[in-house]
Amino acid sequence: MDKFVINGGNKLYGEISVSGAKNAAVSIIPAAVLADEPCVIENLPKIKDVSVILAILESMGAKVTRINGDDSKVEIDPRGITSHKVTCEKLVGDMRASYYLLGALLGKFGKAVVPLPGGCSFCERPIDLHLKAFETLGASVNILPSKIELDSEKLEGKPIYFDVVSVGATMNAMLAAVKVPGKTVIDRAAKEPHVVDLANFLNSMGANIKGAGTDVIKIRGVERLHSCTYSIIPDQIEAGTYMAAVAATGGNVLIKDVIPEHLDSITTKLRDTGTIVEEYDESVRVIRENELKSCNVKTMPHPGFPTDMQPQFVALLATANGRSRVMECVWESRFSYIPQLRKMGADIVDNGNVAHIYGKNRLKGTKVRALDLRAGAAMVIAGLAADGLTEISDIKYIERGYEKIIEKLTSIGADIRRVTYKENVEDDDI
Ligand code: EPZ
Repeated sequence: MDKFVINGGNKLYGEISVSGAKNAAVSIIPAAVLADEPCVIENLPKIKDVSVILAILESMGAKVTRINGDDSKVEIDPRGITSHKVTCEKLVGDMRASYYLLGALLGKFGKAVVPLPGGCSFCERPIDLHLKAFETLGASVNILPSKIELDSEKLEGKPIYFDVVSVGATMNAMLAAVKVPGKTVIDRAAKEPHVVDLANFLNSMGANIKGAGTDVIKIRGVERLHSCTYSIIPDQIEAGTYMAAVAATGGNVLIKDVIPEHLDSITTKLRDTGTIVEEYDESVRVIRENELKSCNVKTMPHPGFPTDMQPQFVALLATANGRSRVMECVWESRFSYIPQLRKMGADIVDNGNVAHIYGKNRLKGTKVRALDLRAGAAMVIAGLAADGLTEISDIKYIERGYEKIIEKLTSIGADIRRVTYKENVEDDDI
């Protein structure tokens, strides 16, 4: 079992590069199953979720060639996938996004059997909208205790309306519909950058998808999808996490390989705290010299402020001057990590989906847990800004979404390291 140990208080200076987007990669890799030829995917982040989804495809019969010798650039040849059944329960149970195999296999074979997905569980994460979209296209859905079965005699393009904006359901509907005869119209579609990236990837393979990035996505089914080479967009949330880290510690860092427009809502809120954000073509410079000011944040689907930046911002605002209010409007509850921040001296009162943060200048290092990926990122930010040593356990959650986080933060002056400890060591504080 490993931990991150952070000796807080260092300001951050220098340059850092952002990796490919996790939430795009975990949908684009399953999408490659739909092609009749091999596809090359570049700029994949080297993180656990990517290696797991690649391993799932390999277990299904796909040939994955690691062009650079690692997961950053792969050729996926799906021609060896001859069954609609995914049997590797353990791997599928390791990640949430394995649900994209439902849409991809339904689109390829007209049926699918996939074990129930696992992954970060900061609250109940239903997939009823995904299943409703499959049913609308003509599939029958059978939910068993350990797996989901989809079947169909004939799928047909149809209008799909979502009463809740859902990233996963939008992407799964696209995957299922892309080869289905006729016209599918997804109304109240999610507009996140990774939704657009998946549509761009599918279009590079010959799909006919229009409107991704707007509320209405129109898909004309095509008979076959061909090979392509595609580069994943930069990770909006990884970039935002490092932006928040610099704001929390103070300093001056150029964050490279980003799409600044994807960061607009984060940039706006950082500027509200008095942090300077300069935008360039493919980078942003974050400068924080003065005391942080409080601000209010409300999470919303894109182009609103991303829920996946909410915990990192709560950690940041815990060090700001004055009272901030953060409202979580995407997930029913995503504040379970707040007691961990309180252990570090943060003064936060949460009630339902609202957190009131009474900012303090300094947090104090202590032992905390990474309860999930973004909650873990929040602990890293708090630890970097705190006085003294912060020990973060359960770092597996952090490492499933952030490539080389230790190396990247160390390169800009953070004192953070990974230490191995024996599991039987008494750890009564955690
Ligand atoms: C994606 O999850 C991301 N995961 C999440 O990021 C992110 O928090 C979320 O989108 C919102 O941006 C991946 O892309 C792999 P949703 P997803 O369907 O697609 C409700 C991270 O840290 N809903 O957009 O599962 C749901 O309860 C992860 O990187 C239904 O009611 O989220 C929520 O309130 C965590 N029924 C809202 O929609 C459904 O069938 C948005 O969820 C599906 C969702």
